[in-house]
Amino acid sequence: MLPVGMLMKEHRIIEEMIKLMLWESARLKEGRKPDINFIDKVIDFIKVYADECHHGKEEDILFKELKEKPISQKHKKIMEELLDEHVFGRQVLASLAEAKKKYLQGDKESVSLIEKNMHRLIDFYPAHIDKEDNHFFLPVMEYFDEREKEEMVCRCREFDMKMIHQKYKGVIEEIKKRR
Ligand SMILES: [Fe+2]
Ligand SMILES: [Fe+2]
Repeated sequence: MLPVGMLMKEHRIIEEMIKLMLWESARLKEGRKPDINFIDKVIDFIKVYADECHHGKEEDILFKELKEKPISQKHKKIMEELLDEHVFGRQVLASLAEAKKKYLQGDKESVSLIEKNMHRLIDFYPAHIDKEDNHFFLPVMEYFDEREKEEMVCRCREFDMKMIHQKYKGVIEEIKKRR
């Protein structure tokens, strides 16, 4: 397995969530009330899975290793774009969380902001994934030898193992803070 194989599999899961978000977005466009339970799940999924777990491995493992290699200007430029796009995704997610908070505080106008920011994520992820899957991940594997690629796969697995513990330790800490 290539390290980018793991990341590509995660892209397929992110795409599944994007499809579900399209349904919710269509409902909102029809003037229906936001499904807050679903929006909470979207916020958790994008924050923990798509950003911390998935972008986390891209940034902390793959991109970090690529920075040590004499990569081409073309690949350097794409990597910078991808990093900027991760920042953009985080900003949109923060706006979605803020819009949901305002809605729960009684600001009914914020439904349009929930819809708008959800749509920005729906537009953002497929384009970002396409850039990685079809223009970056496989060509940059050429910079690594077999041992380096195996090592990256191991590091990706370790990263995932640590994450689940961090996530639920975080849940405990958050509950403690509220008490
Ligand atoms: Fe990415
Ligand atoms: Fe990705």
